[in-house]
Amino acid sequence: MDFDIERARRDTPGVEHVIHFNNAGSSLPTRQVLDASIEHLQLEARIGGYEAAAAAHDKVERVYGAAAELIGARPDEIAIIENATRAWDMAFYSVPFEPGDRILTAVAEYGSNFIPYLQVAENRGVIVEVVPNDEHGQLSVEALKEMMDERVKLISITHIPTNGGLVNPAEEIGKIAREAGVLYLIDACQSVGQLPLHVDALNCDMLSTTGRKYIRGPRGTGFLYVRRGVLDRLEPPLIDHHAARWVAADRYELRDDAKRFENWETNYAAKIGLAVALDYALDLTMDAIWARIQDLASELRKRLDAVPRVTVQDLGVVRCGIVTFTIDGADLDQVKEQLAERKINVSVSRAPSTRLDMEARGLDAVVRSSVHYYNTSDEIAHFVDTLESII
Ligand SMILES: Cc1ncc(COP(=O)(O)O)c(C=O)c1O
Repeated sequence: MDFDIERARRDTPGVEHVIHFNNAGSSLPTRQVLDASIEHLQLEARIGGYEAAAAAHDKVERVYGAAAELIGARPDEIAIIENATRAWDMAFYSVPFEPGDRILTAVAEYGSNFIPYLQVAENRGVIVEVVPNDEHGQLSVEALKEMMDERVKLISITHIPTNGGLVNPAEEIGKIAREAGVLYLIDACQSVGQLPLHVDALNCDMLSTTGRKYIRGPRGTGFLYVRRGVLDRLEPPLIDHHAARWVAADRYELRDDAKRFENWETNYAAKIGLAVALDYALDLTMDAIWARIQDLASELRKRLDAVPRVTVQDLGVVRCGIVTFTIDGADLDQVKEQLAERKINVSVSRAPSTRLDMEARGLDAVVRSSVHYYNTSDEIAHFVDTLESII
């Protein structure tokens, strides 16, 4: 598939300044995102915040339609929340756990999700169990099947972990959840905007993501999808008079859409920027984006494989744009700093972010070089040559 790389780079001012392989941290936004956000901030300053929100109503509301379109949902199943963690929290803490309920999760689960599991285990007597990996290093669907019983209240997994190229088999997991009638929550923070996703194919009930990573939206944005059919089973842990209506002195009614997971005050400029980023991805199409990312990532892995002392650490059958590696005898933070001095951005992912996975593999840290569609083969070659000269 032909990918219009000229256009992608023309629309990305940052590529003139850095070689950015920290897209899993926060990607470079398009100039359209930047312009739309700044324009709204200027409008707020000129005519007032409430007045600007009213004037830009359609641009703000577009975020629900665009987010829904990207994942095959309905606009009223979307809540815009300030980041993936809070979006995930709002879903997770809505589940009415009772003592003895089981949560099944994955080995490569994200730290900010596992800590809440431990909290509900401690406070509510919930049992947290980790589904083992298969021989490819991804969640074993067979093992999950065996672990299912009537006490499983929630299957909750990270689709693409923070620390590697693995893509967990989210659709197969969803089939099991659906057959059992069990709630299914996906942390899709690293996958929305990177690969095509459809909530019906995933069979998920709740899905959280962030704006600043593969979607290329502004920082401080994210969203939560909640399937309409499960809304009434979920009581948001925090509510205000946006999430609910105060209908009588002694009574409130929760909203009947996913906005019950939002709160009233929000960053309108960022919401508009997120809408523009989502529309940009829709226009490119997720199929084209995913194909380009996979090509670049496999090229990067191939080149890294040829560098002495470097070991690529990615697991799974399907590998995404997050390319991780270790370097024998090198201080990874120092390597990152030296690359940064040469205007090449990577990050270092450490054990506490994905403790179960990292400990099982005997890893303290990995260098994370994450590609997006606007990166190029030339950038990859320059990065790998520079890395080799540094180490
Ligand atoms: C798998 C995963 N989930 C959740 C998050 C948290 O996202 P946010 O920083 O938007 O809350 C991250 C961030 O790195 C992540 O990698």
